[in-house]
Amino acid sequence: MPKRPVIAPVIAPVIAIDGPAAGGKTTLAQALAERLALLYYDTGALYRAVTLAALERDVPPNDEQAVAALARSLRIEIAPPDAPDGRPYTVRLDGRDVTWAIRSANVDAHVSVVSAHPAVRRALLAVQRRAARRGGVVMVGRDVGTVIAPEATLKIYLSASPAVRAERRWRQLRAQGQEVELGEVLNELLRRDDLDAGRATAPLRLADDAVQLDTDDLTVEEMVERAVDLVRARVAGTEGATRALRLSHGTAHLAPEEYALFAALVRAREQVCSCEDLAEAVWGRTALRSAAAVRTVARSLRRRLAEGGPRGPRVETVRRRGYRLLLQPPGLFEE
Ligand code: DC
Repeated sequence: MPKRPVIAPVIAPVIAIDGPAAGGKTTLAQALAERLALLYYDTGALYRAVTLAALERDVPPNDEQAVAALARSLRIEIAPPDAPDGRPYTVRLDGRDVTWAIRSANVDAHVSVVSAHPAVRRALLAVQRRAARRGGVVMVGRDVGTVIAPEATLKIYLSASPAVRAERRWRQLRAQGQEVELGEVLNELLRRDDLDAGRATAPLRLADDAVQLDTDDLTVEEMVERAVDLVRARVAGTEGATRALRLSHGTAHLAPEEYALFAALVRAREQVCSCEDLAEAVWGRTALRSAAAVRTVARSLRRRLAEGGPRGPRVETVRRRGYRLLLQPPGLFEE
C-alpha cells in the first residue's frame, strides 16, 4: 500500500507546570490551554484514576505491586472537555467517564500513597511521555519538567506560601459547601507537600531550567499574563518553524492562524493523521497532497471561522464521519 501523506505540526509546544498542591496550577493551565489552543493534560488525574480503580476493586492502595499491575491494565484517557458541566477536561477509565468521580474525598485521601509507589509511576510513564511527544499540551503535575518532559518548550514552577495556598483551598472548599477549619486545610496541605517532596521516586522539585513564578502577590490575571508572555517569548525564538506543517513530501509554511488551527485539528485527531482523513472529515475533500492544498484548505477554514465559527474562548466540536474535531481559537501568536 502506498504510504499515506502525514501532516504534523513541526512544533507543538509543551508547557510543563509543576508545583505543590493548591499553588494555582489548575487555574493557570486552564487559562493557558484556552488562550493558546492547547490541550490541558493534568497528570494528577492519572494517579487519581488509578486510585479510584483500586478503591472500586478492593485493591489495597498500599500494595505497590497490586496497584501497579492494576495501573498497567487500565486504559486512562485525558481528552478535551466533552460535556458542558464546567469540567476542564474529560477523564475516561476504560471508556467510562470518571471526570468527577476522581475528585471524591476517598480518592483524595489515598492518592498520595498511590502516587508515591515507584512501580505505579513507572506504569504511568509511557502514557504521559506519549502525550508530551505529541505536543500541543499544557502538562501539569509534580514531575513534568523533571521526568516526563525534560525537553518541554517552557517549564513553569508555580509556588506560593503554605498560608496562601491553604487559604485558597479553604475558600474553594467553603464555596463547595464544605465546613472545614483553615488550620485543618493547612495541615493537610503540609502533609501532602511532605509526601510529594519527600518520596524517593520523582519527588516534587524545581527543574534546573524552570521559571519559578511565585503567586503570593499576583492576581489570577497577572499570573496568566506572565505565563502567556513567557510562552510567547519561547515560541518566538523558533519562529518560522512554528508556523510550518511538515508534509510527507515537503513543508507548508502557514500564516499563524492557519498553523494554530491545523495544530488544534491534528491534536484532536490524536495528533497525527493523514491529510486525506483530515480533509475528508472537515471539508469532504480527499486530495490534500501539497503545501498549496493545505493552504487552500486552511484559508477556507479561516473563512468559515470568520463567518461565525469559534471566537474568543468558545470551543466548538464538529462531528462528522465518526471524527471528533475540536476547533479552538488560535492564540499562540496573537498580540
Ligand atoms: O494535583 P492533584 O492533587 O490532582 O494530584 C494528586 C496526587 O498525585 C498528589 O498527591 C500528587 C500526585 N501527583 C504526582 O505524584 N505526580 C504527578 N505528576 C501529579 C500528581
